[in-house]
Amino acid sequence: MNIALLGYGKMGKIIEKIATDRKHNIVLKIDHDNQHELTAENLKKADAIIEFTTPASVLSNIQHCFDAGVPVVVGTTGWYEHLPQVKQNCIETGNTLLYASNFSVGVNIFFHINRKLAKLMNNYPYYDVQVEEIHHTQKLDSPSGTAITIAEGIIENVDRKKEWVNVLTAEGNDADDSSLRNNQVLIESFRIDSVPGTHTVIYDSEVDTIEFKHTAHNRNGFALGAVLAAEWVHNKKGFFSVEEMFNFDI
Ligand SMILES: NC(=O)c1ccc[n+]([C@@H]2O[C@H](COP(=O)([O-])OP(=O)(O)OC[C@H]3O[C@@H](n4cnc5c(N)ncnc54)[C@H](O)[C@@H]3O)[C@@H](O)[C@H]2O)c1
Repeated sequence: MNIALLGYGKMGKIIEKIATDRKHNIVLKIDHDNQHELTAENLKKADAIIEFTTPASVLSNIQHCFDAGVPVVVGTTGWYEHLPQVKQNCIETGNTLLYASNFSVGVNIFFHINRKLAKLMNNYPYYDVQVEEIHHTQKLDSPSGTAITIAEGIIENVDRKKEWVNVLTAEGNDADDSSLRNNQVLIESFRIDSVPGTHTVIYDSEVDTIEFKHTAHNRNGFALGAVLAAEWVHNKKGFFSVEEMFNFDI
């Protein structure tokens, strides 16, 4: 398959290596400094495009992919308030987009079990629940897209929780949760050098604590998932989330 990469930063470089190992050709690499090469003509050389850039550039990059009519896999996070319009645009123009807040197989298993656990914990109102996420200090968005997906999985299944709130906490401190309401899920974010991504769901009662945790050791799992997504979506039409690709229905 021919693949175009939009964004050639930490993720773009690992995706290039994994895609090449899987015998794909990288036919275009666009980064901050060669935007003039981002043309429909160049994008059309690809069977699929993989986009890992920044929250500020993702929407216009998606539009370029739609204008070229080439399926796009979007890994960039921090733009999900625009999902409804992007979905409508994708469907109305007959295009193809697959997005994920996290492409790793392990995290998607974690999302699945998180929803099942939340459904179970709905019956035990004396447990409160919060989410913690830790990422490297260059991460631009907070909370992480992964933490938002986890919190949404809790809110969909725990009747006493209606919304999430985020607190960015300095390392070693406790979050100031004094204004937190009972119907809110606290997402506590920490930024610590070189951590690829750690997420913990904590159910806490007066008598005990249940912790459910995922720790990424490096970025390879995200990159492999993005390449698998490009392979899965390149000959499909429509708007997909990565859950439809993994389809863990057990
Ligand atoms: N979904 C996932 O599984 C997953 C995993 C890791 C990271 N991410 C997200 O992916 C994004 C990128 O992460 P990263 O660690 O590679 O960041 P990074 O900062 O290392 O790389 C981003 C790259 O995008 C380039 N860029 C900026 N504007 C651009 C534009 N208009 N067109 C093309 N390139 C442009 C920058 O020059 C930079 O090289 C972030 O939003 C991050 O949160 C998602």
